[in-house]
Amino acid sequence: MKKSSLIACAIGAGIVGYLATVYAVDQGDKTLHQQYLSQANLVKADPLSQQAFHIFNQNGCQYCHTKNSEMPFYADVPVAKQLMQRDIEHALRQFNITALMDQVQNNKPVSQVELAKLESVLNDHAMPPKQFLLMHWRSDLSQQETDTLLNWVKQERTKYYADPQVVSEFKYDAVQPISTTFKVDDAKVKLGEELYHDKRLSGNNTVACSTCHSLTTGGVDHLDTSTGINGAKGPINAPTVFNAVFNIHQFWDGRAKDLQEQAGGPPMNPKEMGAGSWQHIIDKLDKDSALKAQFDALYPKQGISEYSITNAIAEFEKTLVTPNSRFDKFLKGDKTALTQEEQEGYALFKANKCQTCHTGQSMGGLSYEVMGLKGDYFGNRGNVTDVDNGRFNVTKDQNDMHRFKVPTLRNVALTAPYFHDASAKTLEQAVDDMALYQVGVKLSQSDINKITAYLKTLTGEYQGKPLK
Ligand code: HEC
Ligand code: HEC
Ligand code: HEC
Repeated sequence: MKKSSLIACAIGAGIVGYLATVYAVDQGDKTLHQQYLSQANLVKADPLSQQAFHIFNQNGCQYCHTKNSEMPFYADVPVAKQLMQRDIEHALRQFNITALMDQVQNNKPVSQVELAKLESVLNDHAMPPKQFLLMHWRSDLSQQETDTLLNWVKQERTKYYADPQVVSEFKYDAVQPISTTFKVDDAKVKLGEELYHDKRLSGNNTVACSTCHSLTTGGVDHLDTSTGINGAKGPINAPTVFNAVFNIHQFWDGRAKDLQEQAGGPPMNPKEMGAGSWQHIIDKLDKDSALKAQFDALYPKQGISEYSITNAIAEFEKTLVTPNSRFDKFLKGDKTALTQEEQEGYALFKANKCQTCHTGQSMGGLSYEVMGLKGDYFGNRGNVTDVDNGRFNVTKDQNDMHRFKVPTLRNVALTAPYFHDASAKTLEQAVDDMALYQVGVKLSQSDINKITAYLKTLTGEYQGKPLK
């Protein structure tokens, strides 16, 4: 045989192997599903969750949506192997089912983002033929199984996330009005608020948290990248502090586990507040007897310390929650709160899957997602720097390359420019880019305008007054 026909044979065998795998997975071949079944311990799960678990299992979702899944024997056939690896790589970029399976087994809340993504693929019947192989599993789910899973999604939302004030039409939506308030110690909030505006937290008394996160400008500085002490330029755009309390972690790459840990960063950052050492800050604050008295009363053990300073600031930040946007009022039944165009914008927002990442009360902050899922965002933009690695910088896991904590869309009309690199100067451009790079659609100008109009209704109230 000629070399070329040998290659053709090998590719043919590979594709057959691949199809065989897909076929076997589609048939729900029991022997392929040992991985989870053998470990499954569903005693804690309610009946519907148990059913959902078995549907995932029997349809092989875990092959492509878990890391290091065990592959059937023909997965070693060349080409088949490559095709499968490519599928798995793509699958894992968008959805990892491991945590979900664990949560079901342990009767813990399943992430709102996972529920939204699942709902989206279950509802989506506009399957393009070229993606048939990638989407083969869908042909396998019977209508009954699909309905069971959709009911399960509703059940989970009812249990953990649905706001009882929302009208029935939007009750089970992935996006919910802001209704959570966080329990705080009022005296610590007051101290934290003072510290938030206190320039003594910087090396030369020129920069406060509020310099870059002014509460009168949407919690941001409107610069492409922030300017810190002595005019130093940072590498990345400043996100808003409003509703940051809802974030799973803090910073674009999530390197701070919570608000208190985050608040420890800027004072020591040489490009932000450049204080040099905590002792330097403590020495300055120590001379302020009124302030010292507050610390001593609230933190008798620590006095003025890194711990007490960051703890008070974090306590204050828990109050930076912005409920009662026009959109929230609309969800709760005020039909006149949104214009026709804005309502159409919300429908388009959902139809274009925006809510699969911008989920929950804060419409973001709950997951790390790849920037450029459907297009080479960084290649097209050029000048790639370290901060563009995103979550990878924290985990060093290749699967986290270019992943960013999804920004909140609350008050987004007030927080231009957009994205971690400030590449989108207007909301219209951000919407256009998102559709292109995250969803894979080119929106018409009229759809962009409607979605933008909708996003402008997400501006909420702070201390009872609309943010400006
Ligand atoms: C053969 C591999 C494979 C199997 C098996 C598979 N998927 Fe996927 N899945 C993919 C790929 C590839 C993508 C990314 C799709 C894309 O790029 O459009 C994906 C994407 C997804 C997404 C994310 C969609 C989004 O919009 O974010 C969900 C949710 C999902 N799959 C659920 C499932 C479920 C549930 C099952 C089992 C019933 C399953 N998948 C089985 C390959 C697979
Ligand atoms: C010089 C400008 C500057 C100063 C001063 C500053 N920040 Fe920031 N802040 C930023 C930038 C830029 C980021 C994003 C950095 C990153 O993600 O790598 C950020 C991120 C944050 C975040 C994370 C938000 C999110 O969605 O992840 C919070 C919260 C925050 N800052 C609060 C504070 C507090 C509290 C202070 C004072 C102790 C402070 N900042 C001082 C510029 C600044
Ligand atoms: C697959 C997840 C995903 C989907 C789907 C998605 N987004 Fe995003 N969105 C992100 C991520 C991640 C960022 C941050 C990207 C960055 O900074 O590089 C972002 C940023 C944004 C921003 C900028 C916010 C800011 O403060 O910088 C807007 C506006 C936005 N998205 C709107 C949308 C709209 C509208 C849709 C639907 C057309 C959508 N997104 C779909 C993940 C997603």
